[in-house]
Amino acid sequence: MPVTNYVELAGHLEHIPWITGLLYKLAVVSVEQQNFEDLAIQRYEKRKEEGSKRRDLFHYFTNEEGLEEMEVSRDQCLNEVFASIFAGGDTTSTVLGGVFFHLLANPSVLDRLRKEVDSEFPSGEGEPFDAVKLAGMPYLNAVINETLRLQPAVATSIQRTPVEGSGGKVIAGRWMPESTILYVPPYVLHRDSRYFSPSPDSFIPERWLDTIDGEGHRFTTDTSAFIPFSAGPANCVGKNLALLEMRMVVATMVQKFDMKFAARYDPRKWEEDLQDFFVMKVGKLPVVLNVRE
Ligand code: HEM
Repeated sequence: MPVTNYVELAGHLEHIPWITGLLYKLAVVSVEQQNFEDLAIQRYEKRKEEGSKRRDLFHYFTNEEGLEEMEVSRDQCLNEVFASIFAGGDTTSTVLGGVFFHLLANPSVLDRLRKEVDSEFPSGEGEPFDAVKLAGMPYLNAVINETLRLQPAVATSIQRTPVEGSGGKVIAGRWMPESTILYVPPYVLHRDSRYFSPSPDSFIPERWLDTIDGEGHRFTTDTSAFIPFSAGPANCVGKNLALLEMRMVVATMVQKFDMKFAARYDPRKWEEDLQDFFVMKVGKLPVVLNVRE
C-alpha cells in the first residue's frame, strides 16, 4: 500500500482526533493503519537482520555505535521508523514531483539550472553528491525554495495551541482560550502578495536571487513568511536531510537526463490535482526521459 493512503486517513482524523480510538477498532480504518505499520515493521526487521552497511538514520536510531548510554527498545526504534516514513517519505517525494513539474513547465528555468549543474558537476566527472557544493548552488536552491513556496508539503496542518495552564493568549489581536487549536497554513502565507510579490502565484525562482524582476519591478521576498518546514523549537527535524536529498536528486536528474512532459499530458492538471490532506497529495506526472548525449 502506498503510504499516501495512510496520510489521507491522518488528514481526516486530525480534524476529529477524539474519534480516532473508536475508528481504529473498525476494520475499514484499521486496514490503512495496519498496512502502514506492517510496511514499517517489515523494513525494521529486514534492516535489523542485515545490520548497517552505512551510517544512515537507522544506524543512529538503533544506537549501533553505542553513542547513547540509553538502551533503545524495539518499540522506541519502531516509533522513530514510523515517524521517518510518515514525515519524511511523501513530504520529500511530493515536493520533488513539484520541482520537476515546474522545471518542465518553464523551459528557461530548466536551461538556467542545467548550466549551473553542468558548471559545478561536469558530466563524466562524478555524481553530483557533494553536499557542501550543492548547498552553495544559488539557482538550484532558488528552484527548490520556489517549489516549497508554491507547494509546501504540509499546506495547512501546522497546529499550535496556548498550552493548558497558560490562561490563553492574544494572537493576531484575538483572544485564544487555552487548548484552542490554531492553524498557520504555509500555503496561504506563501501566496500572500504582502510577502511575495509580484505574481505570488507564479513560479519565479529569480525572486530568491534578484531584487528586480525582468520588467523592472522590485521583488518582495519576505523569508520570515516562508515556513515550509514550520518554525520554532518543534520545526521539522528532517529539514536538512530533506534539502540534501532534494538537491542530490534534482542535480542528478538534470545532469543525466533530458526530460519533457509525456505526449497528451495537460500541465493544467498539476495544480488541479493537488489535494491538501495532512501532507499534500499530488497527481500523476508522466514524463519522458532520455539519457543526455
Ligand atoms: C520536503 C520535505 C519535508 C517537509 C516540507 C517537511 C515539513 C515538516 C513540517 C511542516 C513539520 C511540522 C512541524 C511543526 O509542527 O511545526 C514537520 C515535522 C517533522 N518532520 Fe518534516 N518535512 C520534510 C521532510 C522530513 C524528513 C526527510 C524527515 C525525517 C526523515 C522529517 C521528519 C519530521 C519529524 C520527525 C517531524 C516532527 C517534529 C516534531 O514534532 O518535533 N521530515 N516536517
